[in-house]
Amino acid sequence: MARVHNVRGLVLALAAILSLISLSLVQGRVLEDGLPSGCRAHGAFLTDFGGVGDGKTSNTKAFRSAIAELSKYASQGGAELIVPPGRWLTGSFNLTSHFTLYLHKDAVLLASQDESEWPVLPPLPSYGKGRDVTNGRYSSLIFGTNLTDVVITGGNGTIDGQGQYWWDKFKAKQLVLTRPYLIEIMYSDQVQIFNLTLLNSPSWNVHPIYSSNVIVENLTILAPIKSPNTDGINPDSCTNVRIIDNFIVSGDDCIAVKSGWDQYGIKVGIPTKHVTIKRLTCISPYSATIALGSEMSGGIEDLRAEDITAINTESGVRIKTAIGRGAYVKNIFVKGMSLKTMKYVFWMSGNYGSHPDQGWDPKALPIISGINYQNVKAENVSMAGDLVGLDNDKFTGICLSNVTIELAEKHKKVQWNCSNIEGISSGIKPQACDKLPDKQPGKIVPCPYPSDKLSIEDVPLKICSIRPEPPMY
Ligand SMILES: *[C@@H]1O[C@H](CO)[C@@H](O)[C@H](O)[C@H]1NC(C)=O
Ligand SMILES: *[C@@H]1O[C@H](CO)[C@@H](O)[C@H](O)[C@H]1NC(C)=O
Ligand SMILES: *[C@@H]1O[C@H](CO)[C@@H](O)[C@H](O)[C@H]1NC(C)=O
Ligand SMILES: *[C@@H]1O[C@H](CO)[C@@H](O)[C@H](O)[C@H]1NC(C)=O
Ligand SMILES: *[C@@H]1O[C@H](CO)[C@@H](O)[C@H](O)[C@H]1NC(C)=O
Ligand SMILES: *[C@@H]1O[C@H](CO)[C@@H](O)[C@H](O)[C@H]1NC(C)=O
Ligand SMILES: *[C@@H]1O[C@H](CO)[C@@H](O)[C@H](O)[C@H]1NC(C)=O
Ligand SMILES: *[C@@H]1O[C@H](CO)[C@@H](O)[C@H](O)[C@H]1NC(C)=O
Repeated sequence: MARVHNVRGLVLALAAILSLISLSLVQGRVLEDGLPSGCRAHGAFLTDFGGVGDGKTSNTKAFRSAIAELSKYASQGGAELIVPPGRWLTGSFNLTSHFTLYLHKDAVLLASQDESEWPVLPPLPSYGKGRDVTNGRYSSLIFGTNLTDVVITGGNGTIDGQGQYWWDKFKAKQLVLTRPYLIEIMYSDQVQIFNLTLLNSPSWNVHPIYSSNVIVENLTILAPIKSPNTDGINPDSCTNVRIIDNFIVSGDDCIAVKSGWDQYGIKVGIPTKHVTIKRLTCISPYSATIALGSEMSGGIEDLRAEDITAINTESGVRIKTAIGRGAYVKNIFVKGMSLKTMKYVFWMSGNYGSHPDQGWDPKALPIISGINYQNVKAENVSMAGDLVGLDNDKFTGICLSNVTIELAEKHKKVQWNCSNIEGISSGIKPQACDKLPDKQPGKIVPCPYPSDKLSIEDVPLKICSIRPEPPMY
């Protein structure tokens, strides 16, 4: 059996040496049992399990056997798998509970292009069908299900999806199964993904689904702006989600908040709620900074977005829905958007279409209400707002306040296109459509924003300040 290091021993040895110099050199809170918080009691290197970081040798077996071994320590203080400097080609592997996957800053995971290295999973229950083709789907590169307390992190180490292979197959309509994502975690609690660079995902990048207490922080996510469906972060049927300090360049929505698709999503009925998104920077010329939907059939509720920057992006926070989706998008609060070179500042589409199959219910109308935006500054804009609800299903309770929009030289003649919506506005330049009347012109009445904090905002990251130096490959 490969070596599994007992980290507590290492900590005590280090502490003994350091205490001769100065105790304060040991960063992080040292627990009574001698372990800094955020550290696992056991650790191993991928190389301990036969990993080879030459960029050519498959490490799929090394990852799978390392994690199978480390899963034995879940109830003994947990374990960490450290990926040392090197280029580590791998197929899909599964995580375990009370576990940290740590990528050294010079470690690069390279996603295999050998389809036999990707197990096949059934469609997600709330989607009914694969998103690309109706059959099953490839498991994500890093997958986890039914877990508690799992961390994926590193000193800005890299996960490269090598997506070109999959994008070509998608465009040529040669896929038999839906493309894999980079990271997908299902039915899990206490999930932290932070301090990583994700490149060229075959499809979506980060997809937590049916999970709670999820943190996605300090990621750099990069994909070509024309790559298909390379969404950045897609919280889907999740509760208590914190998405902060992320930088995303992508071919699809930088963030897409979702909760299932038409009759399948309605049946599963798990909403996404209590979400905070802060300090996002987005570049996505053909998609949204933050999309709500289009798959929202379990409902989306209580989302707070603050301090959002977008450059050369199609729209700000966009609502996408359709007849057949059912459920709701309600109590959405956006405060502080700085936008530059945008097609639309505000965009809501009731007619998005896109159905899994013919089985959707024409009576399942989505309820869109309580959508609040304040403090928005936008430059070089083609159109201020395209706000289109549904016949017999108005989008209500829309509030816009303190919005300054400078139009591009080449802008649309009509700045606001509003139908089947109702709400109010205050302090908007150029003045909003008459479906959003300003009842106290000359005065800025702010739209509502919650004054409480979400519990997830106070959860500390599991940062371990002590780990053995990895062997150089
Ligand atoms: C990961 O877990 C899923 C669900 O339990 C399973 O279908 C799949 O085969 C597992 N993948 C690997 C590589 O063991
Ligand atoms: C994972 O959790 C879901 C939801 O609780 C459950 O339906 C499923 O059977 C569990 N799967 C495993 C492999 O335990
Ligand atoms: C992220 O990685 C950098 C570089 O290695 C490190 O300095 C920083 O402390 C890390 N941040 C967290 C939250 O781990
Ligand atoms: C984010 O990651 C960068 C690069 O690793 C690091 O320098 C920085 O300290 C991190 N920020 C936070 C808040 O951890
Ligand atoms: C993290 O790595 C990415 C990709 O190399 C880089 O663009 C980014 O600046 C790095 N972040 C920090 C804070 O060093
Ligand atoms: C303004 O937007 C147009 C596209 O609508 C773009 O071509 C141009 O470079 C932008 N100008 C500036 C100053 O960013
Ligand atoms: C209006 O929004 C800007 C940011 O775009 C902000 O600096 C300013 O304080 C806001 N004004 C009010 C009255 O809230
Ligand atoms: C306004 O929206 C309607 C859809 O309701 C569309 O048919 C029309 O073309 C739009 N007009 C403009 C000027 O964008």
